[in-house]
Amino acid sequence: MSLLIQSLNHQIIDGDNHRQLLVDLNLSVAPGECVALMGDSGSGKTTLLNLIAGLEPIQQGKIAVAGISLTQASDRQLSQLRKQHIGIIFQHFNLLTSLSVQDNIEFSAKLAGRYDVMHGLALAEQLGISHLLKKYPATLSGGEMQRVAIARALNSKPKLLLADEPTGNLDQQNSSQVVAQLVQLAKSNNTALLMVTHSADVAASMDKIYRLQESSIRLVTD
Ligand SMILES: Nc1ncnc2c1ncn2[C@@H]1O[C@H](COP(=O)(O)OP(=O)(O)OP(=O)(O)O)[C@@H](O)[C@H]1O
Ligand SMILES: [Mg+2]
Repeated sequence: MSLLIQSLNHQIIDGDNHRQLLVDLNLSVAPGECVALMGDSGSGKTTLLNLIAGLEPIQQGKIAVAGISLTQASDRQLSQLRKQHIGIIFQHFNLLTSLSVQDNIEFSAKLAGRYDVMHGLALAEQLGISHLLKKYPATLSGGEMQRVAIARALNSKPKLLLADEPTGNLDQQNSSQVVAQLVQLAKSNNTALLMVTHSADVAASMDKIYRLQESSIRLVTD
């Protein structure tokens, strides 16, 4: 499995109270499988992605990415795991503004020690952004920035790609196009994709849809 979550519990401190955000959560995502994660605002979707990315400590339960357990990993091992096996796409792209589009795309692959200029160029071609390689992020449209963020995340050939509302500020036509490209690329790279989305249309183009509700996760469709 690219992602395996077993009996995950997570508590947050809400003012003076403790709140059980996630209770006995189990989830697995196979290589090349594309999964949508839906749920109300505040249900814990971003927190779950942060736990999977090793950005928040696991309180109880088990998370393994590409067969590597995060539960007892040191900060150094977590950072290595992120570099090697996990790609992340944020809602607001998080492109590096001082780097050109091409340097942005090469960035994650260089960190992972998997720099391959041809793979980066092929991704740019598949995403229709080859003509933008010399430009800088500030001069791109939202849809173009998101395609660059996708190319950057996939260029390191991650086993698992986490995307938090990646189409949050794109119009509907752009969203559908970008998601279709993302799913196709994830499948052709055998990368598992876990995507948070509020859009039923976006979720419909994934293999499975899960909903996070009342601290647990439920399969909506298959
Ligand atoms: N570090 C933290 N400490 C305490 N509470 C937190 C922390 N991070 C998030 N929360 C709370 O946990 C809950 C879940 O937050 P989270 O960001 O995971 O929700 P979400 O499902 O991603 O929501 P949205 O759809 O609005 O992005 C919220 O009530 C939030 O206020
Ligand atoms: Mg969120």
